[in-house]
Amino acid sequence: MSGTRSIDELLTERIGLDPESVGSSLVSRGLEARMSALGLSDAKEYERHLIRSGEEFQALIEEVVVPESWFFRDDRPFTYLQDHVRSTWLAEPDRPPLRVLSLPCAAGEEPYSIAMALRDAGLPSTRFRVDAVDVSARSLARARLAIYGRNAFRGADLAFRSRHFKEQNGRFELDASVRNAVRLIQGNLLDPGLLANEPAYDIVFCRNLLIYFTDEARTQAWTNLLRLLAGSGLLFLGHADRLDLAGARLCPVGDKGTFAYRRAPASLPSPVRWKSIEPPSRTEPARPITRLNTSEANRSRLQASEIRPTSQAAPTPAIVKSSAPSPLLDQAAERADQGRYDEAAALCEQAMRESGPTARAYFLLGMVRQAAGDRSAAESSFQKAVYLDAQHDEALLALALLAQRRGDETSAIGYRRRAERALARKGVQ
Ligand SMILES: C[S@@+](CC[C@H](N)C(=O)[O-])C[C@H]1O[C@@H](n2cnc3c(N)ncnc32)[C@H](O)[C@@H]1O
Repeated sequence: MSGTRSIDELLTERIGLDPESVGSSLVSRGLEARMSALGLSDAKEYERHLIRSGEEFQALIEEVVVPESWFFRDDRPFTYLQDHVRSTWLAEPDRPPLRVLSLPCAAGEEPYSIAMALRDAGLPSTRFRVDAVDVSARSLARARLAIYGRNAFRGADLAFRSRHFKEQNGRFELDASVRNAVRLIQGNLLDPGLLANEPAYDIVFCRNLLIYFTDEARTQAWTNLLRLLAGSGLLFLGHADRLDLAGARLCPVGDKGTFAYRRAPASLPSPVRWKSIEPPSRTEPARPITRLNTSEANRSRLQASEIRPTSQAAPTPAIVKSSAPSPLLDQAAERADQGRYDEAAALCEQAMRESGPTARAYFLLGMVRQAAGDRSAAESSFQKAVYLDAQHDEALLALALLAQRRGDETSAIGYRRRAERALARKGVQ
């Protein structure tokens, strides 16, 4: 079809769509459907009409977007969200209501899953609100209706369906109490004025959209996402959404499969995924043990004896300065990025044998262990990172989550508070 190229360009410019990502036939079929609805056979004529008519552009959008979604898609992000909320909003009843953004929300499957997860974790609807945004008016209309077929329920555990839906003739209607916790909004992720009057969000879900964007659109989308994400907020991406082009200052958090990120402290160099595991800048210079008070000195001796995996002849480390560049740790981060966790762990250990233990090395090792599914080794590494750098907010947060998983609420709250104080000291709100 002769008009396809410039129509492709229009779609890219306005909604970020990379036509190749959805297969060129989707766009051609969409065009054909729209031309036949209008009784047009000339693509150039359609293009002229499209450029003039916002309504027609919206109609074309409805044909070319991928509205695929289902409840509790991927599962783990929702478990992580529940853990996070238990040790924050549930533990601290005075916090203002939790603000969540689901963008894109398709026909409501994701924002309603978030609302169900929060309620099931024990957070009452008065203590959170989910804003749900999508460019597709058709999807939003389906979300408003909130009646779903079996295809919207694909996980193995469907217990939530009996709790929150009423079945009628093979269709499932969502309870009003969940529906009312979600505000549906039509909007475009590329719009620089999107939700401009809203305060930033504590949680942002942006899953399974960036994969359909061109590189340029993805960069624009990042600007918006980072504007919408609160300083201490969590961003959830889809498993195939690409972070690498963003240059966004984000660190991964949570187990493998969570795809959750939070901002790196402002002092860090531009980090991406595992490479983001850099040392937080120290607020005080390292001090030799002899100048510490007794309890500090005891603690540091404990650190030295517990942590040092190097030979006994090595000098007792003071609090080890962790900001020195380490090619071995950079390599470890790269291996971790590729899912080669054993090699990454071996490189961390080699780095510590050669240059002594550092908070960065232990934190990276902890993340690697966690990603490989070994929570107890991960916890021990995070503890060592915190021994070496009591302000290591990422290790503190990781420990909070692990304590939460063990059901140890008190430790989880303690670690989280320490992490928040550490972040506040670094100017991350
Ligand atoms: C595959 S669904 C993802 C839904 C949900 N986040 C999930 O992971 O299941 C992609 C959604 O992105 C929406 N979309 C496409 N371009 C958009 C844009 N520029 N701004 C906002 N939403 C967009 C589509 O309408 C569609 O509903």
